[in-house]
Amino acid sequence: MNRNVSEREEMYRNIIEYSMETIVLHSEGKIVYINESGADFFRAPKEALIGGDVLSVFQPSSHGVIKERIQEGMSEGGLAPLIEERVIRADGTMVEAELYCRPVTFGSRKVMQSVFRDITERKETEKMLNDREKLVSIGQIAAGIVHEVKNPLTAVKGFLQLMKELSSHPYLQTMENELDKALATLQNLLQVSKPDLQDETRVPIFFCRELESLMLLFQDKLYDVEVEMDLRDAEKSFIGKKNLFLKAFFNLIKNALEAISAKGKVKITHYYENQWIHINISDTGIGVPKDKLTLLGTPFFSSKAEGTGLGLTQVYTTIHEHGGHISVDSRLGEGTTFSIRLPLREQQIDFQ
Ligand SMILES: Nc1ncnc2c1ncn2[C@@H]1O[C@H](COP(=O)(O)OP(=O)(O)O)[C@@H](O)[C@H]1O
Ligand SMILES: [Mg+2]
Repeated sequence: MNRNVSEREEMYRNIIEYSMETIVLHSEGKIVYINESGADFFRAPKEALIGGDVLSVFQPSSHGVIKERIQEGMSEGGLAPLIEERVIRADGTMVEAELYCRPVTFGSRKVMQSVFRDITERKETEKMLNDREKLVSIGQIAAGIVHEVKNPLTAVKGFLQLMKELSSHPYLQTMENELDKALATLQNLLQVSKPDLQDETRVPIFFCRELESLMLLFQDKLYDVEVEMDLRDAEKSFIGKKNLFLKAFFNLIKNALEAISAKGKVKITHYYENQWIHINISDTGIGVPKDKLTLLGTPFFSSKAEGTGLGLTQVYTTIHEHGGHISVDSRLGEGTTFSIRLPLREQQIDFQ
């Protein structure tokens, strides 16, 4: 009988010892056993953990709840509901964990088994998606407000012009200039949130030809930055609203140059493959942290003190509105590449 019990205990130990999950056995609040993954998870040797108080890995404020849950689990016998708690590791760092407790028989004793899982990554993803949704709805609200604010401002501008005809007060010009700035910002906001409102006719766009005049706009920035162009299949074109596209590529090149603090390189490539025109813009700049990559293109996301966070929104909405795709690849401290794919002109005409 005793041999059976110790064999069963041995078997159970073997199973949990090599489990990938953190498994802690505790009885009357004291840790009686912890597996190898558990020692890694809590960043302490097993010996230091065994015999310790199981509550000590939780923040004091949640001790009451955890104690209750352990008691519930002990009495009900069924699978207790999952608990999400922050756990304090031996080195003082915190980790978001999900855990459940259930009673098990360990040898001849009835003890509690708690299984911990690190959910830091899941929590971060949830937060990121949440933030992104919030930002997107801010963008939509902003576009709505623009409509409401633009009309009265335009009326004020009209009256200012009338006043200018009657008086030559020097403040009037300053007022008009400031008003124009406000109107331009509103127009900008409207454009990036709803590019299809632009009633521009679609024309064939030859990117390689446009690029030359676009680069002239950056001439003063090009002392420290080398620009390399690899432009193939220049005779291919796509159909689109030219001003929107010029603005989108202006925004991408501007960002690339702003990402380079001292010397660096910007590379622009253009080629045709499988009915798509590919345009890549890469830089050797500061890069984007991994956790911020999915935020690119969200209205108002900016890491710059003077940034608006509207540039990439304009880029993304323009590319998507034209049936294109855009993706970004970035390494912190090494650089960023935006890869764009646009449907070839012939293909679009076929569909019309
Ligand atoms: N080429 C790039 N390299 C590094 N970060 C970039 C790059 N392009 C965009 N970003 C990041 O995306 C953010 C949003 O860009 P954007 O919408 O153009 O707004 P802004 O330039 O006004 O900040 C930037 O603040 C920056 O953090
Ligand atoms: Mg920008």
